Amino acid sequence: MPPQKLSSRRSSFLGFQPPAVGDEEVVAVAEAIRSGWLTTGPRAEELERRFAEYVGAKHALAVASGTAAMHLSLVALGIGPGDEVITTPITWPATANVIVHTGATPVFADVRDDTLNIDPVRVAELVTSRTKAILPVHLYGQPADLDPLWALGLPVVEDAAHAAESEYRGRKIGALSDATCFSLYATKSIAAGEGGIVTTNRDDVAEGVRALTIMRRGHGSLYDISVPGYKANLSDVLAAIALCQLDKVEPHRAARMRQVELYDAAVAELDGIEPVAVDPRDTHAHHLYVVRVDADRAGADRDAYRTALAEENIGTSVHFLPVHLLTAYRELFPEQPPLPVAERAGAEVLSLPLSPAHSEEDIQDAIDALRRVHASFTGSG
Ligand SMILES: Cc1ncc(COP(=O)(O)O)c(C=O)c1O
Repeated sequence: MPPQKLSSRRSSFLGFQPPAVGDEEVVAVAEAIRSGWLTTGPRAEELERRFAEYVGAKHALAVASGTAAMHLSLVALGIGPGDEVITTPITWPATANVIVHTGATPVFADVRDDTLNIDPVRVAELVTSRTKAILPVHLYGQPADLDPLWALGLPVVEDAAHAAESEYRGRKIGALSDATCFSLYATKSIAAGEGGIVTTNRDDVAEGVRALTIMRRGHGSLYDISVPGYKANLSDVLAAIALCQLDKVEPHRAARMRQVELYDAAVAELDGIEPVAVDPRDTHAHHLYVVRVDADRAGADRDAYRTALAEENIGTSVHFLPVHLLTAYRELFPEQPPLPVAERAGAEVLSLPLSPAHSEEDIQDAIDALRRVHASFTGSG
C-alpha cells in the first residue's frame, strides 16, 4: 500500500452496505415480468423449494418481509392478547413490534456482554405462566444460545434476519426451532429488496402461516377462508431476485469473510475499538461487522467516531439502539427488567462497511480512515 494512502481522505463516499446485484438479477426480473407473473407464482414456489433444501427444513414459506415472517409465525403459534413473549432489546424494532401486533406483551431479557445475543440466564428468570414463546435474534449472524432456550420447554421462534448462512453447533439455522424467520431486505445476505421466509419442520405451523399469508381462489368459481388472514405474500418479481441471490450466497459470504479478516487484523491494534465476540463453535454468517467503541480508551464516543468517519467519506451504521429505550416502548411498556448490558452496548456499537459489492481496496480505505480518526482522537497520530 503506498504510504500517502494512509493520509488521504477517500474521494467518493463508501456506502455502508450496498446490495451486491448484477446482470443475472436484471435478466431474471425481466423474465419474470415477461412471464406475466407479477404476483406470487412459480418463482416464489421455486424459492420455497430451494430455500427449504438450503437450510434442511421440511417447509419454507415465502412472505412479504422478515417482519411478516415473524408476525405470522407468532399468530400461527396462537400467541395473542394476555400472552408474554421474551425477546432481546438489541435488535431491529421489528422483532418486538411483531409481538405487539399479536396483542401480546414484549418482555426484554438482557444480552450477553460478549456476543450481545440474548442471555438465556436472564430469559429463564423472566419466564412466567403468561410466557408463550421466546424470540431470540441471531445477532449479526452469530447464533444465539439455543440449547438453554429450548430447555425452557416453550415455543422458540428464531429471528434469523442476519443468519441465512449460520450454523448452530454444526447444524444449519432454519430447521431447529418451531419456526425460523429470514429477511430478504435489500441489505441482507439474500437480498430481494423486500421479502421474508419462514422455515419449519412443523406441519401445523406451515399450514397456519400459509393460511394467514394470502387468500386465493380455488379452481371453482366460489371461495372460502378458514382464517381472516393478511396479505403478506412475495411477488415472483422479487422471488426471481432472491433465487439469483441464493445462488451467490456462499461466494458472497466468502467475500465478506475476507473483509472481516482485514478488519480484525486492523482493529486489534486500535485501543478501545473491540470487535463483538465470535463463538468458535458456530458458523457466523458475518452479515455485519460491528465494533464497540470504548469512549475512555478510544478518545471519543461512538457518535463522534461516526461523524468523523462520515467526514472521511466512510458510511457506517448502528446495530442496534436498545428497543426498550425507543419512544413507543418507553410509553407502552415502561416496566422492564434492568437491562444494563444492552444499554451500554447500544451506546458503543458501530457497524463498519461490509458488502460483497465492496472491493478489498474499499475496505482498506475504511480501515485507513478508522486509523486516522483513532489517531486524532487518542492523540497518537
Ligand atoms: C434483526 C432483524 N430482525 C428483523 C428485521 C426485519 O426484516 P424486514 O425488513 O425484512 O421486515 C431486520 C431488518 O430488516 C433485522 O435486522
